[in-house]
Amino acid sequence: KKVVLAYSGGVDTSVCIPYLKEEWGVEEVITLAADLGQGDELEPIREKALKSGASQSLVADATQTFVKDYAFPAIQANALYENRYPLSTALARPLIAKLLVDAAAEYGADAVAHGCTGKGNDQVRFDVSIAALNPDLKVLAPAREWGMSREETIAYGERFGIPSPVKKSSPYSIDRNLLGRSIEAGPLEDPMNEPLEEVYLMTRAIADTPDEPEYLEIGFERGIPVSLDGQPFSPIELLTHLNDRAGNHGIGRIDMVENRLVGIKSREIYEAPALLTLIHAHRDLESLALTSDVMHYKRGIEETYSQIVYNGLWYSPLKAALDAFVLKTQERVTGTVRVKLFKGNAMIVGRQSAHSLYTPDLATYGADDKFDHKAAEGFIYVWGLPTRVWSQTGRG
Ligand code: ARG
Ligand code: SIN
Repeated sequence: KKVVLAYSGGVDTSVCIPYLKEEWGVEEVITLAADLGQGDELEPIREKALKSGASQSLVADATQTFVKDYAFPAIQANALYENRYPLSTALARPLIAKLLVDAAAEYGADAVAHGCTGKGNDQVRFDVSIAALNPDLKVLAPAREWGMSREETIAYGERFGIPSPVKKSSPYSIDRNLLGRSIEAGPLEDPMNEPLEEVYLMTRAIADTPDEPEYLEIGFERGIPVSLDGQPFSPIELLTHLNDRAGNHGIGRIDMVENRLVGIKSREIYEAPALLTLIHAHRDLESLALTSDVMHYKRGIEETYSQIVYNGLWYSPLKAALDAFVLKTQERVTGTVRVKLFKGNAMIVGRQSAHSLYTPDLATYGADDKFDHKAAEGFIYVWGLPTRVWSQTGRG
């Protein structure tokens, strides 16, 4: 049997290689490391897989696809799980699942594998996404079944020449890609513990941020960010640059207790400077470009969208239907948003659009007001009629 394993270079996914071979009788393990802009050097990871017993070690450069096909649609949907988490980890899973399924087809594998535990959301996202893309493919999740502690896992790996982590291993569990970092476990497991500064890498502490605000103009075309300060940027460059600019002002930290799909509440720290700034700016531009009814209806769509993406349903028919709705709403979401970066805040201080529905003639309180005040009277009579009747009826 031949298996394609999602590989990060960490202890757990490394141990998966001998474990699949020794315990589960897999003949050939092909590892696949996805470059999603996490900033790791991938050549050492590729080599580590081979040293750990992989027969082939693949690296997939998927950062551009990740930003264009996974992050940008989520920005158009203003996707924030429980109103806060911009899904930076959740968005990566369906893409990795796709890379696994494609590699399995290319290399004629009978199954794919991942190193997720049985307590998290990630296992759900992998398993469901893989099933959606190829329902005939088997999914193996050794770490969900092996029941080894951290120490036992390291000891098991050492037996097969997998070095134990050189540095005193971090107490945190960290996932990272170009969109952000997710940090959990260790001292964070007590939700009353303030995160130590050491958990953050992409964002500065407020005490160390510039004492002067910085202005930034983000240009959107059909809901997709395309420029910064009037200069066109490619998707990857835009995220990279904005992570630096916003992170420098301490923007994008989130500390929350969230509800996992598997019923557990977990304490999570996130940093996602660019992604959060983009969502806030995008939502603001929509306030100019969308009619009030579409805007209000879209809020409900956004809520459902965020939940189903968090819950692993990226490749589901509901998600596809919501995508069609969101895409339709973005046709006129083109324009520029001015953002003031200062002390942990990305404040929106200006917005403009060629499709702006904001009408100065109607909005003004000045002399050139074109709004028909008399028309309001009849409108209010009809609008309030049911309430008036209800009140009169209740008097008796
Ligand atoms: N709880 C987040 C999510 O479900 C992040 C989990 C990522 N993993 C980690 N080791 N922190 O999307
Ligand atoms: C894991 O348990 O594998 C990571 C956390 C998560 O999936 O939510």
